[in-house]
Amino acid sequence: MEKVGVIGGGQMGSQIAALAAMAGYETHIYDNDVENLKSKIKFTEDNLKNLIDKGRYEKSKLDNFKQYLKTSETVDEAIKNKSFVIEAVVERLDVKLEIFENISSKLDEKVVLATNSSFIPASELAKSCEHPSRFINMHFFYPPIRMDLVEISYPKETNKETIERTQNLGKDMGRTVITCKKETPGFIVNRMLAALTDEAYKLYDEGIADFKDIDIAIKKGLNHPLGPFELSDYSGLDIHYYAKLKIFNETNDPKDYPKEFLEEKVKKGELGVKSGKGFYDYS
Ligand SMILES: NC(=O)c1ccc[n+]([C@@H]2O[C@H](COP(=O)([O-])OP(=O)(O)OC[C@H]3O[C@@H](n4cnc5c(N)ncnc54)[C@H](O)[C@@H]3O)[C@@H](O)[C@H]2O)c1
Repeated sequence: MEKVGVIGGGQMGSQIAALAAMAGYETHIYDNDVENLKSKIKFTEDNLKNLIDKGRYEKSKLDNFKQYLKTSETVDEAIKNKSFVIEAVVERLDVKLEIFENISSKLDEKVVLATNSSFIPASELAKSCEHPSRFINMHFFYPPIRMDLVEISYPKETNKETIERTQNLGKDMGRTVITCKKETPGFIVNRMLAALTDEAYKLYDEGIADFKDIDIAIKKGLNHPLGPFELSDYSGLDIHYYAKLKIFNETNDPKDYPKEFLEEKVKKGELGVKSGKGFYDYS
């Protein structure tokens, strides 16, 4: 049975850790913002109770959540004696690299090192770390305790055991797992979503329609449950901004630079649902 360490307890990490604990895995989670971590765990517990009331989960999942999920005060404590570490910190290559360089030298080659990053491939994180064969992308969707899918992707150096253990952990967490055969930024879902979101941002930027009308058009015309602007608010505008910036830094093509309205919102701290305001107001 894996022992799971989660680094980063924001909106994703807190619920990924919850899923591991709910599946009966001993789980520790660390975040350098203690107050945020506390509130995210409380939020997850409330959500889980709600889902149990609706019959989506057995009551035993809440018992497991309480019994197996522990918070840690340091990274070292969270990874101690663990066989599987999942990183879910902010989407910044420098921050993630610092974490993996630190932990990869402390954990033996059997410990799987997974990242929940939406756009950074495991190969980029493995490059400067020890034992690259244990690196993998394990990509959940927001909110992980409600969204069924996990996408797995891996560089050619990753060994078979790492892939199989990641698939098994995802399935034990009750998720449907799909595995990409090659690395690609955004995997399947975000690569397709990016095309839709880019076009929605372009329509708004060109003044063709208000963002609310674009959302309505996509919901009513394509039967999507959320419009692209609502979805951006839910996943976090900073995630979109940094993902776009990363692409721009690689291509140097001005067309890839994040739209001005997005940059302004991120600079103002209007990051979507998590900050109370994004395109829409949640206060
Ligand atoms: N939000 C989504 O829809 C979504 C979906 C799939 C994957 N992801 C990926 O998950 C990761 C986290 O995204 P999120 O939405 O949870 O962001 P978030 O902003 O809610 O959480 C990020 C957390 O990282 C913590 N953190 C930052 N630096 C740290 C460090 N050095 N050590 C420990 N903790 C640190 C922050 O305190 C924060 O709590 C990103 O890589 C993102 O690409 C996000």
